[in-house]
Parts: sequence; structure tokens; C-alpha cells
Amino acid sequence: MDIHLEQKPVESLECDALVALTFDGQPNGRFKDSLREVYGSGEVTGKIFEMTLVHQPAGLKAKRLLLAGAGPREKFTSAEMRRVSGAALRHLKSRSQRSIALLLDSDSSTAENVEAAVEGALLGDYEPDRYKSDKKDVKVVDHFTVAAPGSGVGLDTALARGRAIGEAQNLTRELGTEPANQLTPSSLAEAARKMATAYGLECEVLDRDRMKQLGMGSLLGVAMGSAEPPALIVLRYRPAGKSSGSGHLGLVGKGVTFDTGGISIKPADGMEKMKYDMAGGAAMIGTMRALAQLKPPIPVTALIPAVENMPGSRAQRPGDIVTSLSGKTIEVINTDAEGRLILADALTYARTLGCTHLVDAATLTGSIVVALGSVNIGAFGNNDRLVERVLEAARAAGEKMWRMPLDDDYKEQLKSAFADMANVGGRPAGAITAALFLREFADQTPWVHLDIAGTAWLDEAKPYMSKGPSGVGVRTFVNLAVNWTD
Ligand code: BES
Ligand code: MN
Ligand code: ZN
Repeated sequence: MDIHLEQKPVESLECDALVALTFDGQPNGRFKDSLREVYGSGEVTGKIFEMTLVHQPAGLKAKRLLLAGAGPREKFTSAEMRRVSGAALRHLKSRSQRSIALLLDSDSSTAENVEAAVEGALLGDYEPDRYKSDKKDVKVVDHFTVAAPGSGVGLDTALARGRAIGEAQNLTRELGTEPANQLTPSSLAEAARKMATAYGLECEVLDRDRMKQLGMGSLLGVAMGSAEPPALIVLRYRPAGKSSGSGHLGLVGKGVTFDTGGISIKPADGMEKMKYDMAGGAAMIGTMRALAQLKPPIPVTALIPAVENMPGSRAQRPGDIVTSLSGKTIEVINTDAEGRLILADALTYARTLGCTHLVDAATLTGSIVVALGSVNIGAFGNNDRLVERVLEAARAAGEKMWRMPLDDDYKEQLKSAFADMANVGGRPAGAITAALFLREFADQTPWVHLDIAGTAWLDEAKPYMSKGPSGVGVRTFVNLAVNWTD
């Protein structure tokens, strides 16, 4: 799909379909006369995602005009722009329209909206049909144009930014779609390496021997049950010249390519979804792809501990005690609480690499799904300032996020009779005790943990996005890095 910005008058735009926003209870100002009958019919209410297709609209070169419901004007933000753009694209794509132009009026034609419209179009375009013989993608949108007549300053940059971020998020979704027989820890590392080579980032992959040498007993314990070797993927971005401060952002993403639960095995029902247990890692790979293009002012290192959690004959057992890279010992009460075990060593390692601020993303607990469903990411942290920054980045990027508590009072639940700590804290407050476990390894370094178990996968298609991996997190992390100030 190629993407352009167009400033010429709307009448002269040639395309299969022109998309015009219609707000709740308000006919689109530009078309309220020419479409008096359509609006008069009462069919067009402007409620969000309502789509009305008008053929051969009078006075336009466009073959069709799509009135896209955008909801109440006063509630319309770039987050709605992104979704409406995606929904309009999907509506038209399913009707075999190949060239689409989205019209912004002078009010809505801001850099934020242009970026969001482009992101929305790319996200709407993505279909997880790689393994389908009968592809939905026989229908292809070739051209997507943002028509912003008359205005211009900064919109080109916004468009490029939208493209970089939208494509990055789709890379994350592609990785999440891959089944675990195709995407192993080694092939995830290969995908990261390939991306790094293409975009000029450094990529280093630590293998089992290297991790043993360093003492990553917590991560390696999880890998024992699988015939697939583990990998710790490290991607590095460094700003050209001097960076603007002394910060160094570390992005740590859970990369469990499949989570059977290990010896504490999961029930069969729904287990197939556990191929997306690497969504946090995939979000960091996507983020790094975008950062290579958008060049934030600070160094960013992504670390993705990649393992397969299997119940093989060498698998670790409940009751096993492992020694983490930090030196802390952990009693593995439940082998299904594997995410925190691999993240523990990755967080410690990130600190030894000089990261001054840490953000991790992980499909960590079923408990966060109970608490926040599929709407909000759960955010935890040991530093109010960093938590605030991440929340603000998420808000600006249109990703919903809610801060969760992290009181020391919960720590009691993680006590072990035989080691420094247990890897589970029982059913109450499961997402919180998981986060508290991780906090031990962030130590004094400012750190935010995002539990994306509920948000990284869409169980049902949305008007603006297909079912499956959502690529959540990418936009927040890109925003955080690009707008970084010490
Ligand atoms: N990957 C799962 C968490 C998960 C659950 C992700 C549902 C997506 C949807 C994680 O490794 C896990 O198994 N967590 C356990 C922890 C428990 C054993 C303390 C859980 O949440 O049940
Ligand atoms: Mn698990
Ligand atoms: Zn898991």
C-alpha cells in the first residue's frame, strides 16, 4: 500500500472511494448540500463506525463517497481518527476498492490526526492470513491518500511517522500470528536479526552457553523442558552524535514462543492461544524497527528473553530452586509462572548493560485479564515519574493503560521456606505479586512493568482491526522514546 498526502481540492481527487467523516448528528459540512437527500433520509446518524457508501457522488472525480461515522465531535481525538480510518479502510477493502482517499477538513487536519489516520489504515489493512490458501488479501488496497486540502506544515513528517509506526505494529502482529512450530526462540532471534540488518541496528543473540557462563539460572531453568534452545535477543539503537542527556532506555519483552505451562501444565482448552506469549518481545522488536527510522534522542536497548515452556523429560519441576543472575535464589512452585523467571534475568542483565530506565511488557498473568479485561494494559512501577511518563505516552498513542498498586504488603505472599523467594504468590492479587516479583530484579532502577495478557490479543475482530495479535505497546514505547527528556 503506498501512502500519500494530497493538498489539491477535493473535487479533483481521483480514487475509487473518498472517505469523509460524519460526526454524530451533524452532516459533513462539505457535502451537506449535495447529499441533502442522503442525510435527509435519516440513514446517516454519524455514530462511530457507521458506514454509508454513496455511488457516483455529484461534483467529485471520486467514484464513490464513503460517509464514515466518527461519533460525537467533542469526543473526537486522534484515537478515534485511527480507528475510524482503519474501519473505513476495512469496509472498502472488503468491497474491492483499491484506491482510497481520506478527507480531513481544516479542523481535523492536524499532524496528530494525519499520523493516526495513516496508522489506522495500515493496522486495518493487516490480515493474519499467511497460512490461508484462500486469502482475503486477493483484495488489495494499493493507494491510501490523506487529503488535507490547503494545509500543510508538518503533515509530511506526520505521515512518515504514521507509516513507520503502523508498519512496526504490523510486524509485531505478524510475529504474534506465527504458530509455535514456525516461530521458535531461534527463529524469533533470526527475525530480530533480519530486521536489525535491514534498519541498521545492532543485534546480538546470547545462546545457552553464554547465558550459563553469565549465571542466568532463572531463565535457563524455564528452557530445560524444551528441545528448542533458548535465546536472549539484544537489539541496540544509538543516536548519532551526542545524545541529549544521560538516559538509556531498556525495553524488556517476554518472548515465550509457546507456553504449555511446563510440568504445571495448562488445560487443553484454549491452549492454542499461548503462541502469543511472545507478544511483549514482539512489541519490542516492532518498536526498535520504528525507532531506527524515527531516531529518538537517547540510546535504547531492547532485550527479549526467548524460550519455549515445555514439559519435556528435562523440564524443571515444582520445588526446584534456581539461582538468578542477580544472585537471588527462587523456588519454582509453579512452572507456569515462567514469564517472571525469564524476565528476572533479562532485567538484571539490562541493568548491567547500563540501562538507566526500564520498561517491560509481558503477557504475564491471567489475573490482569480478570482485573482489566481486554481494554486496559495494567501498569506497575517503582518510580512515579516514570509511570506518569509511560501513562502519558500511552494516552498520546491511543493505547489504554491503567495504573495498578504495588504495595510492599503483598510481598509476604512471595515468601519461600527454602529460597529467597517463591515464583508465585497464590490466587489473590496475582498480577500484583507477579509485578512485585519483577520489582526485586529492577532493584533501584526506575522501572515500569506492563501486563499485556488481556490486550495483546483480540478474541474478536473489531471494525478497525482483524482478530488475533493486536501489536499493543508499540505505539506507547515509540512515543516514550521519541519524546524522551531527562
Ligand atoms: N502466559 C501466561 C499468562 C496468560 C494467561 C497470558 C492468559 C494470556 C492469557 C503466564 O505464563 C501464566 O501462565 N501465568 C499464570 C501464573 C500463575 C501460575 C501464578 C496465570 O496467570 O495463571
Ligand atoms: Mn505460564
Ligand atoms: Zn506465559
